[in-house]
Amino acid sequence: MRWLIPSLAGLAGLAAAVPVSIALPGVPPVIKGKAFDRFITIFLENQDYAKVAADSHITDLKRHGILLTRYYAHTHPSQPNYLAAIAGDYFGNNHDDWVRIPENVATIVDVLEDKNISWAGYFEDIPSPGYMGNYSDGSTGTDGWDYVRKHNPFVSFDSITNDGKRLLLIDSFDTFQRAFSARKVPQVVFMTPNMMNDGHNTTLEYATEWSHKFLEPLLADRAFDEPTLIALTYDEAETYEEPNHIVTLLLGSAVPPALRGTTDDTFYTHYSMLSTLQANWGLHNLGRYDVGANVFKFVAEKVGYAGNRDPENAKSVNNSASYPGALYDDPAKRLPIPPPNTRLIGAGGMPVLPAIIQA
Ligand SMILES: *[C@@H]1O[C@H](CO)[C@@H](O)[C@H](O)[C@H]1NC(C)=O
Ligand SMILES: *[C@@H]1O[C@H](CO)[C@@H](O)[C@H](O)[C@H]1NC(C)=O
Ligand SMILES: *[C@@H]1O[C@H](CO)[C@@H](O)[C@H](O)[C@H]1NC(C)=O
Ligand SMILES: *[C@@H]1O[C@H](CO)[C@@H](O)[C@H](O)[C@H]1NC(C)=O
Repeated sequence: MRWLIPSLAGLAGLAAAVPVSIALPGVPPVIKGKAFDRFITIFLENQDYAKVAADSHITDLKRHGILLTRYYAHTHPSQPNYLAAIAGDYFGNNHDDWVRIPENVATIVDVLEDKNISWAGYFEDIPSPGYMGNYSDGSTGTDGWDYVRKHNPFVSFDSITNDGKRLLLIDSFDTFQRAFSARKVPQVVFMTPNMMNDGHNTTLEYATEWSHKFLEPLLADRAFDEPTLIALTYDEAETYEEPNHIVTLLLGSAVPPALRGTTDDTFYTHYSMLSTLQANWGLHNLGRYDVGANVFKFVAEKVGYAGNRDPENAKSVNNSASYPGALYDDPAKRLPIPPPNTRLIGAGGMPVLPAIIQA
């Protein structure tokens, strides 16, 4: 939020008033993007594409946005998909147990902060900001399982938890609601509802009904001061034998009116969120699988990004098993964390973040 103040020259009547904008204390200035100024993603749990696409609440929401018809999660179970969405790799993770990733592994947080783009993670029923425990009981009394660490990727990265300022940006849904009312929602936001509302311990319909209700105020006219893109997605599909095809809906004021109620059949994964952020703000990249991930089509068109293409074997893509890596539970399948490829140019037209190359 900014105040417009006439310049001194204008006040003195020497020239036409030139408005200068002065950021309010504590509110970082909004960094303009090419297709949106704010991105909010909300992760639901464990449903197959076909069932979600047929759900009545999703059908209703679809009228306001773009249904991505070929969006694939990375593997099973939940945790690696969440890690992937902020780090551009899941390092072979194939389980939901406690993991910790060393300080020299960067995430999208590093890339955003490099350009002073504000961010936050909001986790329903997290008991306190920066909470690093495995789970916590919240409002619904489900045996201590309302908030779960496995659905909060931020707290698994030392590069985030070793920095108190970053830790404080991992906060609750109540804090999100206060920021929303005050029109101070950060520019990149990651949200996980509790284990009831995300559908994990409930049903498909429970989660879609919750989503519809939660999104209503966010989709209202002038809900945000800046063009805002909202991606409602699932961490993974329900059926492990199938190729991990999930529903993602793009919503919000940044969706061009002519595209509302349409579908986009470009191939996407959670890495597409990273490449889309990079394309939108001309950001550096992580030198991982963020580079080469297709950018959401309307954004690609707006920024003039021409790199979208199908994987070579699109018909046989089956993201249902984890590859070997540092976070694989079977020691025989463990490999060191690979260094990022420091020569890559990403969708932002920029090389790997210099701080990553140094690390
Ligand atoms: C980010 O903010 C800091 C502190 O205000 C400033 O020194 C730096 O130049 C800014 N970086 C960019 C890319 O604007
Ligand atoms: C979380 O789980 C891990 C692995 O099971 C355990 O080592 C750790 O002590 C737990 N943390 C807390 C705060 O209970
Ligand atoms: C919720 O899910 C967790 C993990 O699968 C399980 O341990 C717990 O019993 C479930 N709670 C309810 C109320 O279903
Ligand atoms: C996908 O991969 C999983 C895990 O390897 C396997 O069980 C399943 O049969 C595969 N599905 C298809 C359709 O190839």
